[in-house]
Amino acid sequence: MKSFPPYRVQVVKEIPITTRPEREEALSQAGYNMFDLPANKVTIDLLTDSGTGAVSAAQEAGAATADRSYAGSDSWFRFRESLEEITAFPHLFPVHQGRAAERVLFTTALGPGKISLSNTHFDTTRANVELAGAEARDLPCAEAADLDSRDPFKGNIDLGALEQALSGPDGARVGQVLITITNNGLGGQPVSMANLRGVRELCDRFGVRFFLDAARFAENSWLVTQREEGYAGKTPLDVAREAFALADGFVASLKKDAISPMGAAIGVRDTELAKQCEAILIATEGFRTYGGMGAHDLERVAQGLREVLDPHYLRNRAEETAQFARLVNEAGVDIVQPAGVHGLYLNAGRLLPHMPASGFPGHALACELYLEGGIRCAELGSLYLGTFDDDNNLITPAPFELVRLAIPRRTYTSAHLEYVADVLASIAKNPERVPEYRVTYAPQLLRHFNLKLRQVPRG
Ligand code: F0G
Repeated sequence: MKSFPPYRVQVVKEIPITTRPEREEALSQAGYNMFDLPANKVTIDLLTDSGTGAVSAAQEAGAATADRSYAGSDSWFRFRESLEEITAFPHLFPVHQGRAAERVLFTTALGPGKISLSNTHFDTTRANVELAGAEARDLPCAEAADLDSRDPFKGNIDLGALEQALSGPDGARVGQVLITITNNGLGGQPVSMANLRGVRELCDRFGVRFFLDAARFAENSWLVTQREEGYAGKTPLDVAREAFALADGFVASLKKDAISPMGAAIGVRDTELAKQCEAILIATEGFRTYGGMGAHDLERVAQGLREVLDPHYLRNRAEETAQFARLVNEAGVDIVQPAGVHGLYLNAGRLLPHMPASGFPGHALACELYLEGGIRCAELGSLYLGTFDDDNNLITPAPFELVRLAIPRRTYTSAHLEYVADVLASIAKNPERVPEYRVTYAPQLLRHFNLKLRQVPRG
């Protein structure tokens, strides 16, 4: 039986409809940088699934009656209760968003000379490890390198490589192992419970802390119930509890799987570490019962965490993504297989084989989606991960030229996604028409947010 969303639409927001000349003008004005496009020139915004989910009537009811007391507000207690029910961590802190949680935890748990090992650090996560004076190393499993492989858990860390790193000459410098669930940097692929248990064992053996980056914990839990042996009969809540029980702590952006516009949390078991986190939190984010979050968002998170683990919701969301993946494949565009939940990662390098990496195929496809259909998304390819010389020419390309179509929660209908697939199909019919791009400005810091480019006229 086909699934359907366990809600109906009660409030809607109009989306802008633009003409091709308007889009050409807007993108050129933005220096061909998606982050500089005004949202009122975007028809379907697939830039991120973060903070873009539709809130429920129950979330807004909580927000309307939120308690803004500085210390010990009712909203804080509801936030904590919801998080406790899923994570069971004794020390929980609210923080305004995920990267702040990372900064607070890593400045205490890491330090100069330390190493953080991960299946893949998300970009802000890597930046916060480095800002703490430490080094971030990714150890993804081998299956992740084959975009077409349908291995069910391509988000896993390579346990052999992890053991080697922990027992090797740098082992004593490892300050943490951080597992990102799901693995956003690598195609939104899930991590298996067997892999998490393997990490736990190695961390116990070598006396290293094991943290989760749990931004998409519910979607990871759902995929475990669907793909991992022994988990078919478990609920997403059971799986989430088991995952958190394996870790010594977590950071979680709550803008994703708590379906809140803003918010994050830190959880730790160790009382001494909690005290240190609390001191930094109070000095830099806010008092421990709001931590930089508004009371309305504490309430939205408290309720969103209950809604997100509903198996009907997760089944329908995963099926919508899988259906979208089928349409995209039928349109002649390959994706990182198998489709995860929070987005599709298009293989732009394969769609535009005529284009060298120096023309930025991922970015070129993202621009074309906007020009052709008013769809916004971002590349994960050489523009983001390559290295440039002083004249902004590409020296080392990224291993893959990908484009992420992130899918906001409860926001777009199947018809919107069908439209996106139609636009992709029209691009895929004449891929050689897609022009190359050159970088005209690239700052050292946070490059992909601030780049400027120009289109190379087709000759
Ligand atoms: N960790 C992961 C795995 C993330 O995907 C993100 C954000 C963060 C940490 C940081 O959280 O945004 O609340 O500060 N990812 C967004 C994205 C921005 O588009 O994937 P934040």
